[in-house]
Amino acid sequence: MECPRILIFESLDEMALKALQWLTEKTAAQDTVSVALSGGNTPQALFECIVKLDKGTVDWNKLLVFWGDERCVPPEHTDSNFRSAQKSILIPLDIPEEHIFRMQGEAEPEKEAARYSQLLAEHLTMVGGFPQFDLVLLGLGEDGHTASIFPGNDSLFATTQFCSVAKHPQSGQHRITLTGTVINHAAEVVFLVTGTPKAGIVSQIAETPELVHYPAAKVSPVSGKLTWLVDKSAASGLKT
Ligand code: 6PG
Repeated sequence: MECPRILIFESLDEMALKALQWLTEKTAAQDTVSVALSGGNTPQALFECIVKLDKGTVDWNKLLVFWGDERCVPPEHTDSNFRSAQKSILIPLDIPEEHIFRMQGEAEPEKEAARYSQLLAEHLTMVGGFPQFDLVLLGLGEDGHTASIFPGNDSLFATTQFCSVAKHPQSGQHRITLTGTVINHAAEVVFLVTGTPKAGIVSQIAETPELVHYPAAKVSPVSGKLTWLVDKSAASGLKT
């Protein structure tokens, strides 16, 4: 696999411009572009910048929107990743409802993991036995989790399942999450990380991934296309 690219930005606006450039190119080149959105504050802040800076170069009607993970709460709940995305990007960009594939946080978790797995198989191209996203966006937790793959759940990077039920180690909140194998079968994976609290873990994962046992360190797409978009604070621990 190619070394992950680490792109350092002065601001979220600069990061958003990079994302818009990628989306412009992809929606010009493909009939549809399937993206799995991440939850968390960083991705939401980036989505707001994308909307603010959008100049009409992206064919948003080609975007097929999925989630990398969802909290097991109703869609109107303040914890819902769907609700956050709906407010920050789906409504502002008027993404067609038929292109939005929500993980149903209100459903029974195991049943929803199975339903969403089936949905992925129906809507995405299968590659190597797994549904392939054009892009999976990921955040990074301070404990090294990504999506809702928390420390101690490395088996999710070797499973044949597409989605799984997870449990937040502190809150006990149940989550639906893409498995690490689905994430690693994406055509492209991009981490979005900002803030000084993440600097230590970013440098550990970027520079000595083999020495750390963080789920985020196990993200290594078969395609080889892994990029970290980080701001200067999150990059402050990097040697190079
Ligand atoms: C979630 C996310 C989670 C998040 C990280 C980073 O549902 O919470 O999927 O993986 O991306 O915890 O979150 P912040 O960007 O808010 O630090």
